[in-house]
Amino acid sequence: MLNKGTTKTSGNHELLEDIRPFSRVDFGNDFTWGVATAAFQTEGAWNKDGKGESVWDRFTHTKGKIKTGDHAKVATDFYHRYEQDIDLVKLMGFDSFRFSIAWPRLLPSGTGHVNSKGVDFYHRVIDYCLENGITPWITLYHWDLPQALQDHGGWANRDIIGWFTEYVDLVTRQYGDKAQNWMVLNEPMAFTGLGYMAGYHAPGVKGLDSFLSAAHHTTMCQAEGGRIVRYNVPHANIGTTYSCSHVDPIDKLPWNVEAANRMDAVFNRLYVEPGLGLGYPTKAVPILKRIEKFMKAGDEEKLPFEFDFIGIQNYFRIVSKYSLFSLGLFAKEVPATKRNVEMNSMNFEIFPEGIYHMLKRFGSYEGIKKLVVTENGVCLPDQVNNGAVNDHRRIKFFEEYLLQVLRAKKEGVDVDGYFVWTLTDNFEWSEGYEPRFGLVHVDYETQQRTVKDSGWWWKELLLSD
Ligand code: NOJ
Repeated sequence: MLNKGTTKTSGNHELLEDIRPFSRVDFGNDFTWGVATAAFQTEGAWNKDGKGESVWDRFTHTKGKIKTGDHAKVATDFYHRYEQDIDLVKLMGFDSFRFSIAWPRLLPSGTGHVNSKGVDFYHRVIDYCLENGITPWITLYHWDLPQALQDHGGWANRDIIGWFTEYVDLVTRQYGDKAQNWMVLNEPMAFTGLGYMAGYHAPGVKGLDSFLSAAHHTTMCQAEGGRIVRYNVPHANIGTTYSCSHVDPIDKLPWNVEAANRMDAVFNRLYVEPGLGLGYPTKAVPILKRIEKFMKAGDEEKLPFEFDFIGIQNYFRIVSKYSLFSLGLFAKEVPATKRNVEMNSMNFEIFPEGIYHMLKRFGSYEGIKKLVVTENGVCLPDQVNNGAVNDHRRIKFFEEYLLQVLRAKKEGVDVDGYFVWTLTDNFEWSEGYEPRFGLVHVDYETQQRTVKDSGWWWKELLLSD
């Protein structure tokens, strides 16, 4: 369906003349439309009302870890401004709001003592969503591990299976009668790869063994977490999310093609396949066999869990080539900066077809029931001018990516929802506040929110049909 948009006023802002290549109904009436956030990136209140320290608090308070020297002690102050922010979700026409629970806000030491003020906070967030007709989608783990647990090795310690179980049990008992949509983990490859292998993210650990042990324990928790949600929340819609990127070899030379296959196995298959009962992709990447060192008898049978949906999170394409220097992977990425392609402000390549390929790919696994795009978005150097943010490149980004989602859907892929990353600009991990991904601009000095033109565009798409 082709919608000829006229020049429209939304709020006080003039939108440019725009031809939208699709409308909301093309995605079906049951399609979920949401925006996604994460606790550490938005909440602030890092030590308020009994909250414990997280690995990200420790990391950001350590000199030299964050590119811009920023920290997230206040972030976007979601802890105090959640009502205003959920109002914005509603204003832009979304029906769902994805957010995460901060483990150390509930269990300051990771296990044991429960912080009732932390528990109350998420009750208020969920209640406010429900009062406003917004469906909450809750991520159980979006990277802010209690520091007290990291002091014992964190994800690299097998005891995490018990710690995580206790946490998930608490959360689902508390909120399970109000919230039906759950995601166990956010992007396990990102937090284990960047946090326990590259040391670029918290907790800043480096090394193959720490990565492989963390990877195995994370995969165990992915399934165990799913089982606890199933047990505690009878009508739950249970998923978990993966970062994924279409991988192309730099050219057709056989060693580069093989290098691309190995990259693909690590970045796209490592967590989903054991979860589906297919085991770790050790055939494609022999060095991964070292993960067996961390496995115990009976583990293999515990790795699968029947998720109701898998969350796809796609930001860029990987182009790779053979390399000797890469800890047994024999492959490395050719950065977008060297490929003369269009990039966002974090130098990620903008590659809309990538999301189509990932949806087709994940959609073709027999054990996956349905897919939801649980994050997709772009960071740009947005600025407020006369009370408006003209982020027309972002509007084009959504048009291009949504067309690819629709293409996959029309070809039979069961994709049931799309969440924008993200609601407001927020703390972009080791990159600090510079990358702006939000539909709503945040002035970090004043906490002033300004809906960007892309936010008004979403309102048009979602509310005008
Ligand atoms: C994925 C992560 O889940 C999210 O926390 C992050 O901000 C976005 N990618 C953008 O990099």
